[in-house]
Amino acid sequence: MNSAKSSQVLDRVLVMEMVRVTEAAAIAASDLIGRGDEKAADAAAVEAMRRAFDTLEIDGTVVIGEGERDEAPMLYIGEKVGGAQGKGPRIDIALDPLEGTTITAKAGPNALAVLAAAEEGCLLNAPDVYMDKIAVGPGYPEGVIDLAKTPTQNVEAVAAAKGVQPKDINVCVLDRPRHADLIAELRGIGCGVVLIGDGDVAGVIATTDPETTVDLYMGSGGAPEGVLAAAALRCVGGQFNGRLLFRNDDERRRAAKWGIEDLDRIYKLTDLARGDCIFAATGVTSGSLLDGVKRLKRNGAMVMTTESVVMRASSGTVRWVRGEHRLG
Ligand code: FBP
Repeated sequence: MNSAKSSQVLDRVLVMEMVRVTEAAAIAASDLIGRGDEKAADAAAVEAMRRAFDTLEIDGTVVIGEGERDEAPMLYIGEKVGGAQGKGPRIDIALDPLEGTTITAKAGPNALAVLAAAEEGCLLNAPDVYMDKIAVGPGYPEGVIDLAKTPTQNVEAVAAAKGVQPKDINVCVLDRPRHADLIAELRGIGCGVVLIGDGDVAGVIATTDPETTVDLYMGSGGAPEGVLAAAALRCVGGQFNGRLLFRNDDERRRAAKWGIEDLDRIYKLTDLARGDCIFAATGVTSGSLLDGVKRLKRNGAMVMTTESVVMRASSGTVRWVRGEHRLG
């Protein structure tokens, strides 16, 4: 057992049940892979995930979802989900039915259906703004990364702890014009920069898998995705710092609505996801973390295969789940 206290609220059964929910969303989105329609892919995933929640014996509340009530018809923040309202365990849920809408539309790598679940009050209710992020995988001394320091200082600290030179460090960064200075600084000290088109939840998780060769994740992306990635690192180990970025007064007002007072605060892993938590993801398209949904003919019948991962903070258990689903 790791340091997170095991929770009876997050019943063991629930761990496997969460996979059904992400599987349903991934299968629904997979019909739209490569069809150039981001909205349709997202809508299919949202609807399927919403329906799948009804089968769970929980009294769930969406704390990170598709947006605020007036802008999202389903899985909006505050929406109650689960088939045991008022009776089942009270669980907060952060979700992204389709993390990588553009990836799916273009049939690129690493689109995921993803969710995190925790006891009520344990996930940061992050507004839908940007977040500056830095993440590193497990095995480093606590505090090796610090968002208050420069990218160069962070790379140097990680390189020293790993016993290598900064030129031996690979950093995953979202390929965006806003990251031009960051990318130039990293390349200036000799780092390998692994540019991804979208999908920074997978980008952060890549730091935990030596096979990806990604040591660090840096740069800004969605704050909701930051909470989801932090929940995953709580389960597999690693460190994360995030700072919310506000582009205008409207975004600052939104933060106030969620009770966020210190706008410059640097959030660490347990500020984003506390206590016991579950993280589940199913691949929509294949990538560094998971295989995507595939349609195959087996024994004369068409089947769909899925690959999912589900992890729990209190036990540190990581389960890889391969599903085979009969078409129709
Ligand atoms: P969507 O699934 O909503 O399209 O998000 C994909 C994503 O790449 C996230 O992984 C990331 O956090 C965010 O978009 C980055 O935002 P932007 O595309 O505005 O740079």
